[in-house]
Amino acid sequence: MGYLFGLIGYPAKHSRSPWIHHHFLDQQHERGLYRIFETSPADLQSTLSSMKQLQVDGFNVTVPYKEDILQYVDTLDPYAEKVGAVNTVLYQDGEWIGYNTDGKGFVRSLLEAYPEVDLSSCKALCIGAGGASRGIYTALLEKNMTRVDIANRTPERANTIVALNDQHTPSLAISLEEAEKSLEQYDIIVQTTSVGMPPNDDQQIISLANVKKGAIVADIVYKPFETVFLEDAKQKGARVLHGHGMLIYQAALAYEIWTNTTIQADELLRKFEQQLKGDETC
Ligand code: ATR
Repeated sequence: MGYLFGLIGYPAKHSRSPWIHHHFLDQQHERGLYRIFETSPADLQSTLSSMKQLQVDGFNVTVPYKEDILQYVDTLDPYAEKVGAVNTVLYQDGEWIGYNTDGKGFVRSLLEAYPEVDLSSCKALCIGAGGASRGIYTALLEKNMTRVDIANRTPERANTIVALNDQHTPSLAISLEEAEKSLEQYDIIVQTTSVGMPPNDDQQIISLANVKKGAIVADIVYKPFETVFLEDAKQKGARVLHGHGMLIYQAALAYEIWTNTTIQADELLRKFEQQLKGDETC
């Protein structure tokens, strides 16, 4: 018997996670299956109990359940507890342990792409205040950045995330309009919302007119490979970070938790990039 891994979410059937994890299994010469458990909110509880009965070795959690899952796990890894969201669950001795690899996956993709960047001397802006933003914000705070601000359409949600800050890093919740005006001060700008993803792929969350030349502009949307936000960033002289890196590295970190091994994800990252550029299905 090999591993049984899975993904719970809604919608989830177009997820690339099975493709990614089957590559990791092959790379490690392990047998196993990664199955999608697409589940509507009404069926969440019953699907989760079936997954426990099946003794799924580990699973990922995606939209919209990253916060709902907190009430179903038996233990929370301290980092996931701090973030307040779980994207990875490990089954161990009959219990579920909740982890969050989103933010660390983002930081790993950032440092793989731009290893020369010294985060401790950078100012960052996260745009959006959902589950993904929580993870990225927390991971950036851990890098002792000079400041990390959050801009969101609904300021109260940004305020809730800023309250997670226990690092004494200067941090403000600001409006999208304020972010547009003060963009020049940031070295790293991370777009964490779904704006830019089909059917909103012609939309851009804020104007980048004031972005600093050479700043790193990241988008966590990975399809289309280059969002209009990133196209605009390039035109303004910024460096860009595409969203597929975070997807691959959060998956690698999840696989490492499930199997207690170390994964080489760089080759898969390049392969995934080729597929996205060619718009092939994987
Ligand atoms: P996730 O957990 O995947 O990050 P989410 O919790 O639905 O997703 O959060 C989505 C984020 O995208 C929120 O910050 C949301 O802004 P609000 O808090 O104001 O709702 C933001 N968002 C989504 N669509 C948007 C749009 N068209 N314009 C501006 N912000 C948008």
